[in-house]
Amino acid sequence: MKIEVEYLQFMWPMRHFLITCGEIGGKSNIIAVSFCMPVSKEPPLIACAIGKEAYSCKLIESAKEFIVNVPPKELRPKIYYCGFHSGYQIDKFKETNLTPQPARKVRAPIIKECVAHMECKVKQEIETGDKNLFISEVVEAYADEAIVKGERKAEYAKGDFPRKVYSTRFKRWLSTAQRK
Ligand SMILES: Cc1cc2nc3c(=O)[nH]c(=O)nc-3n(C[C@H](O)[C@H](O)[C@H](O)COP(=O)(O)O)c2cc1C
Repeated sequence: MKIEVEYLQFMWPMRHFLITCGEIGGKSNIIAVSFCMPVSKEPPLIACAIGKEAYSCKLIESAKEFIVNVPPKELRPKIYYCGFHSGYQIDKFKETNLTPQPARKVRAPIIKECVAHMECKVKQEIETGDKNLFISEVVEAYADEAIVKGERKAEYAKGDFPRKVYSTRFKRWLSTAQRK
């Protein structure tokens, strides 16, 4: 017997990414994203679905560029922090102690603590349901040398959307873990 499920239930676990947008030295922001996938090799295109109400959506719509940063799994508390707070209210770089550094071809900062970075320029924006889909060309892609050469191993952050654990206990854990 098969029973009905919420469609997303069997799409998890998904990789978690940290997208940076805005401008280094100006208004910049970090959003946790899992709805992010490659959609073409030539040209290199990535599609990311960003909630219409997210501050990041507004920044990406205006700058037409952003960066997909690949966080190691040790950054999980900070990923959740960025995924449960909005840049409309707080400065996530300040609150998480993640370090913004200049990128190569876009104005948004990369996150130093992440292991790889894909700088993207928006080619097409499609309104889906509650999200806008940004189909974007990867104009630069680079990563920590030791990882590329296999001298250092990194495990990447992935998992379920932590909806079920977003309890008072989880919120308390987040507020202390994020600053470590
Ligand atoms: C693990 C994880 C994955 C997420 N994936 C997405 C996603 O793919 N797209 C999206 O719009 N929001 C996603 N979110 C939620 C946003 O990160 C969240 O709404 C955030 O507060 C928006 O921040 P902003 O208003 O500063 O842009 C995810 C959250 C978590 C914790």
